[in-house]
Amino acid sequence: MPAPVLEAMTSWLNAEAETGGYEIAELCAKEVAGFYESGARLLNARPDNLAFTSSATNAFARALSSIPFAPGDVILIANEDYISNQIAFLSVQKRYGIKLVRAESGKEGGVDVQDLERKIIQYKPRLVSLSHVPTNSGLVQPAEAVGALCRAHGCWYLLDACQSVGQLPVDVQQLQCDFLTATYRKFLRGPRGAGFLYVSDRALKAGLEPLFVDMRGAAWKDADHYELRRDARRFEDWELPYALVMGARAAMDYALDIGLDAIALRNAGLCARVRKGLVALGLSPLDHGRNLSSIITVTVPGWDPVKLKKALLERRINTSITYREFAVIDFGKKNVDWALRLSPHYFNTDEEVDQLLLALKEIL
Ligand SMILES: Cc1ncc(COP(=O)(O)O)c(C=O)c1O
Repeated sequence: MPAPVLEAMTSWLNAEAETGGYEIAELCAKEVAGFYESGARLLNARPDNLAFTSSATNAFARALSSIPFAPGDVILIANEDYISNQIAFLSVQKRYGIKLVRAESGKEGGVDVQDLERKIIQYKPRLVSLSHVPTNSGLVQPAEAVGALCRAHGCWYLLDACQSVGQLPVDVQQLQCDFLTATYRKFLRGPRGAGFLYVSDRALKAGLEPLFVDMRGAAWKDADHYELRRDARRFEDWELPYALVMGARAAMDYALDIGLDAIALRNAGLCARVRKGLVALGLSPLDHGRNLSSIITVTVPGWDPVKLKKALLERRINTSITYREFAVIDFGKKNVDWALRLSPHYFNTDEEVDQLLLALKEIL
């Protein structure tokens, strides 16, 4: 996390300790409102379209729970979608008798938009969902093209932008999504335990509400009647971790100050350097797709993943390992059991990339 993010959180916690949690939230209502304003600037939305959540998965579950499914409805998704989303869809299918359909992947990698369109026409899905930047495949999905199809055919569109927000410019007007979910601790460089949900005006006006609305999201008008609040905060809990809200706001402001176009350009340069270096070491990155992301996956045959990660960590290089069960369809096709995941961020230097490549050379 950058210093201003940490400072925003520690100063809030100090104020809570000195003044009282409820009192400081009331006194600093303007600062809290700044969270929604920054979110709106980040996504090209309105502050009323934003809700704070505890994670991307939490935001996703709230959005999913608001779709008025009927038995026999279809949910259309992509093979590369995030593991927890796939599990959530399977669980909705088990409980409500909904049919889960996956669009084919194209030859180049990523969802085949033509097949997705065919399936939209064939199945008339209630919901289409996509992970913008899948965790394991190193690609950027054609989320805008999918958004245009959803609008044309009148399906709800739930976009998981957990790995794209903060890495790339993300504009909900261009994406035409009804819901967009993300987290703060990844490319946005915010705190853990914080995420958000964007809800379109269309979804708000249609009265979509999470399965469990609390006193934040609705007013209890009489014994058998509650009234939903008009904005996206109907998806929030009454109780918020305000220090994290402040950290999240500072993280968005930080990214906006640097500029998302500049961040994306820098990320692309760093990633090209890493991918080229990996190939020069005789390794084959697993990433396929027209547009590659700042998540690089590579197999290292004959190596134990835990030992490899530890050896890099000993050289102060942070990486992660991703296993077949995190992406059963994608890794099944690629026939790999695990991959080393490298996610250069714009703050990394070219020298750090070279250190990584040298370290890999030495270790291997
Ligand atoms: C594409 C994608 N979606 C969703 C998530 C879940 O995010 P969170 O752990 O904040 O719920 C992740 C986490 O890695 C992810 O990569």
